[in-house]
Order: sequence, then C-alpha cells, then structure tokens
Amino acid sequence: MDKIFIDFDHSNGIITPNIYGHFAEHIGGVFYDGLWVGENSKTDNIHGFRKSLVESFKKIAPPILRWPGGCFAETYDWRDGIGPRAQRPRRVNWWYYEDRRIETNHVGTHEFMDFCEMVGAQPYVAANMTSLTPLQIRNWIEYCNFPAGLTTLSDERAANGAVNPFNVQYWGIGNENWGGGGQMTPEQCAREFIRYTTICRSLGTENLKFIMCGANAHDLNWTKRLMKEWATRHWQEVPTWGISIHYYTCTYSGKDDLNFDESQWYDELFRAAFMNRIIYDHRFIMDEYDPERKLKLVVDEWGNWHKNGTGPSKGYNLFEQQSNMRDAVVSALTLNIFNNACDIVGMANVAQLCNNLHSLFLAGGDSFIETPNYHVFAMYRSHQGAKHIKSSVLTSAIENNKYGELPMLSVSSSIKDQILTITIANLDITASREICISGIGRTVAGNGEITVLSTPDPMTCNTFENPTAVMPKTKPLHFADGNSITVPAASVVSLSISLSE
Ligand code: AHR
Repeated sequence: MDKIFIDFDHSNGIITPNIYGHFAEHIGGVFYDGLWVGENSKTDNIHGFRKSLVESFKKIAPPILRWPGGCFAETYDWRDGIGPRAQRPRRVNWWYYEDRRIETNHVGTHEFMDFCEMVGAQPYVAANMTSLTPLQIRNWIEYCNFPAGLTTLSDERAANGAVNPFNVQYWGIGNENWGGGGQMTPEQCAREFIRYTTICRSLGTENLKFIMCGANAHDLNWTKRLMKEWATRHWQEVPTWGISIHYYTCTYSGKDDLNFDESQWYDELFRAAFMNRIIYDHRFIMDEYDPERKLKLVVDEWGNWHKNGTGPSKGYNLFEQQSNMRDAVVSALTLNIFNNACDIVGMANVAQLCNNLHSLFLAGGDSFIETPNYHVFAMYRSHQGAKHIKSSVLTSAIENNKYGELPMLSVSSSIKDQILTITIANLDITASREICISGIGRTVAGNGEITVLSTPDPMTCNTFENPTAVMPKTKPLHFADGNSITVPAASVVSLSISLSE
C-alpha cells in the first residue's frame, strides 16, 4: 500500500492564485472562432466572446490571462487593435508563414480587457521588445493605465469607450528573445529589457510588474548570463518583478496525442516531471544575483505539445490538439509541482486556452467542449490562495537514464478555512493504487468529498459528438486519519476534507 503524510507543521507559504494562470495568443483558432465569434454571430456571445466559454471559464476562477502572444507579440503593434473595429487594419502576423491567416485585429486591447473583466481575470500583457520602440510600449502602458482627462493617450482610450483605466499591472517585456523574439544573446536581452523598462519608469512604476524573458526549458546558461547582465542595472532604475521560463512537454516530438503505448505514456510523464528540476535549478542560478529572492519565477508557457492536427479543425487551426487522460495527468502533476514550489513560482500560464496546445476548451461554430485539462483546473480550484501544506509520499517509482526516478504518485495539499485539499495524480497507467493518508501534527479527519477523473481507456477524449466522455465524478466522503482510498490507474483525484479536529 502507498502512503501519503500530510505534514501540517511544514508549509512553503501561500499558493498564489496566479499559479493557475492562462495564456491566449493570436494564433490559429485561439481567438477567431475560438474565444471570439463576433457580436453579430449566430453563436451566443457576450460582447462578441463565445458565451458558453465565458461561463465555463468563470467557474474555474482564472486569476490571470496572458495576451497577445507568444511569438505573435513580437510583431504586434497595439495601435492596430484600437478604434472602430471595421476600420482596423488587416495584417500579416507572426504566424502567417505557418498558416497563411491574416490578423483582422477584431480583438484588440479593449476587447481583451473586456474579456478579462467578464471572467474575473487580471490581464498580463506581453509587450513587443523586438520591433516596437520603448516609447511605443511606454505609450501602450499610458494608454491603458492613466486616468481619463490627464493625457492625450488616456483621452483616446476614453474616446474609444473605456473611461476607466484598465490598470494593467503585469507587463512582459519580450517573448522568447532567445528565439523568435530577435534571436538575442542573453546579454542583449537583459540590456534591452533594462532599456525598455527604464523608459517606462517615467510613468511611475509602483503599480507595474515587469517580467523579463528567461530561458527555454532547462537552458541554465541563458539564465546565468541573463542574470549576470541584469545585475549590472541599478535596482532603483529598473523595477523587475519576475523572470519567465517556457517549458513544453513533448515539443515537436512528432507523436500523435491520440495514440500512445505504455512507454510513450511514461516518456511524456518523465518529461513533465522534469518541470520540478527546471524550477529549482533556475532558482539556484538566480540566487547568485538575487539572493533575497525578490524576483519571481514565471512559467508563462507550459503544457504538452503534440503533433498538429488532432483537434476538431483537423489541422486548420495551427497547433490545435486533442486532450485525454495523459494530458490531464500532466496538468495535475505540473500543478502539484507548482503548488509545492509556491515559494518560488510567482505565476504560471498554461498554453493555450482554446483550440491550441494543452487547451482547456475546443470550439468552432456552435460547438464547444471542455477538455480533461479543464476538469483538472476545476478540481484544483480550491488550492488558489490557500496555505500550502507539505506532503510526502511513499510509493514505487520507475527509472529512466535521462530523467532519473518517476514516482507513481504526485501529490500536493493545502488548507483554507479549515478545508484541507489534497490533489493526487496516479501516474501508473496499468494499476489502481491503494493509498493510506495520515496527518503529522494534526489528524486528517472530517467530512468532505472525493472527486475522481478517470476513463477505462486513457486515450478517450471529449469531442463535439461526445462532449462528456471524460468527466469528473464526485462522491461524499467521511475520512478518519489513517484511512485509505483507492485511486484508479491513470487518474486524477482531489479530496476536500472539512477538518473536524
Ligand atoms: O504557444 C505557442 C508558441 O510557443 C508561442 O507563441 C511561443 O512563445 C512558444 O514558442
């Protein structure tokens, strides 16, 4: 039997809701016919956004949404997306070379802010550091955040329909500047970041949180050189809130997400579990230049990246893929890693919200579904803002030369208002596991519920034809310390217990 110990005497702090962040880029079908259907569409919408999606998204309390890219950001001029929609320019955008689709700019700054307000998320804007000037970025911030009546730009915003400032706090300066964002060296990237943010300082920066472009995956050399250069700035002149990393599991592996064998299942989970190493190794490097840990680590793109074309659009929407229990287990494992590293990870954004990589939603025309990833976010919702509780696990593991050990259970736990949440992913694709759960420093006892996400065949997906093939099931639970539960093979489980003692 496996064992989980919930150690009430040890915590890494509060799990910031921002760990449960999202990402929506202008790419393929994320916006057009995904999130956005237009105000005159036959599809039910709120101010042009797909109503079913807005309502479903709200239920998981999205804390933050990153936009407009990704790579798209590095050729995006925000001025194209303001003013009367019919008069906005049509542009070749970053992704044109892949899918020959033109950006209509029907979703711009105002529409994005409206969507954020509808779903209750804070905006996180990724600003272009490659092909716009620092002054143009500074002007975008002024346009968004200054009170109407104070400047010409804030008056322009008000004339465009938003009298109240958008108050955007989070600004990413640059995206993947080691690659599509200008193919910079880390030193160049740090210097550019300093140049852009120094110009922005004129706005008054007390409410601005700037995020610098960090490494691709485990590229520690990038981080070391970036941090070294960044450390040459004067702290007073350049406010920096965080440094980003991007990590995709299975990037361009060429594997199909709908068909996998046992070894491919574990291969993907080994790669996903590597997120833990990435986080701690980066923090170790960052500590040399930021010993007080003022900088947050921002994992602003993560998820599985499978072969294109398995989604409902059959490849028309760039990078659109289906999701099944393998993706759900990766979601659960990754969110457990972030919860357990909540003292380091200040934000994370799953890529991407709809009709793309590791999506929570698939949509097109009047069809709309929630993927298994969505259900994991729903099951983990109560971790947001809760106090992390350390958990330790006794279970078996498998080994791999490159990645080391992969324990068969991934766990995190938290407490809020005397409600203990324990989330578990069973990575074992063939066997259910019996797990004994007990507390240290306090007993795990009380009434609550258990929710299980699993399917007899882990490759099952939700589709437009069968939207509820993969659904969580919830049952009441009376739990006493030392009781055991059985978790199915390849499943995600959440326990919510109202502690009675
Ligand atoms: O999420 C798709 C793309 O992946 C993003 O545009 C880019 O930042 C990353 O390479």
